[in-house]
Amino acid sequence: MLSNNSLERADRLRSSRSKRLAWGGIAALAAAILTNSLRAEPPEKLVHCLECHSETGTSENENVPALGAQRPTYILTQLFMFREGLRVAEPMTDMAKPLTDDDLREIGDFMATLPPPKPLGGPPDPARMARGQALAQANRCLFCHRPDLTGQESAPHVANQREDYTLKTLRAYKSGARRGYDATMAEALQPLDDAAIVELAYYISHYL
Ligand code: HEC
Ligand code: HEC
Repeated sequence: MLSNNSLERADRLRSSRSKRLAWGGIAALAAAILTNSLRAEPPEKLVHCLECHSETGTSENENVPALGAQRPTYILTQLFMFREGLRVAEPMTDMAKPLTDDDLREIGDFMATLPPPKPLGGPPDPARMARGQALAQANRCLFCHRPDLTGQESAPHVANQREDYTLKTLRAYKSGARRGYDATMAEALQPLDDAAIVELAYYISHYL
């Protein structure tokens, strides 16, 4: 049987352990807050990038894609392709030239912390949204980019991407002007005519 004394000792031990745990929790919370506030400040070398792409995650510039909540592997791959001249588009070919492999990783990780893009313009036309969704379903766009269009693995987040950029880039995949990391997108778009591509770009860019 335990004496009163040893019971007290056990109690003290429990309470000091739970204090330690509480302090551990607070320290972890403080670290998380600190990391988040540090993340809000873009690294110096990204300030220029965000003048075009915007640090709100939503791009207000014509034909400039939003990068908020984009998947880090997708960003890394695309910057690699710009740097190696596999995806050719001004000004990115020049912008990517000086970037090291570590830069590509750091940029991907940082962009993923920006808020996801918001839809631009007024409320969408429900009939066009229904047509776009049916096309996206029938052509397996939703299978790879997920039903909420947030992407997975190598398939990018496309929900609320700018309509002008999306239309331009879908046409470029179809014509072969934009080369993907693999042939997935060119193949996915092959059966679709331009009218369908216009509807898909509308649907993607107004996703709520
Ligand atoms: C002067 C404006 C401008 C600046 C500065 C700029 N970009 Fe871009 N960026 C663009 C445009 C325009 C495109 C789209 C190119 C195309 O049409 O395919 C793009 C595309 C991209 C893409 C591909 C996005 C996607 O959805 O496929 C990434 C990633 C990117 N930029 C990252 C960066 C980074 C990192 C920097 C800084 C080192 C940077 N950009 C600086 C204009 C800019
Ligand atoms: C088998 C999987 C798969 C299917 C099906 C698919 N995608 Fe993709 N999508 C990808 C991948 C992977 C990429 C990145 C390709 C690259 O390296 O450029 C991509 C890229 C894109 C981009 C470029 C995003 C950007 O920021 O530049 C858009 C837009 C897009 N897909 C829309 C669609 C639409 C619309 C459909 C249906 C017609 C579709 N996708 C079907 C996997 C898929």
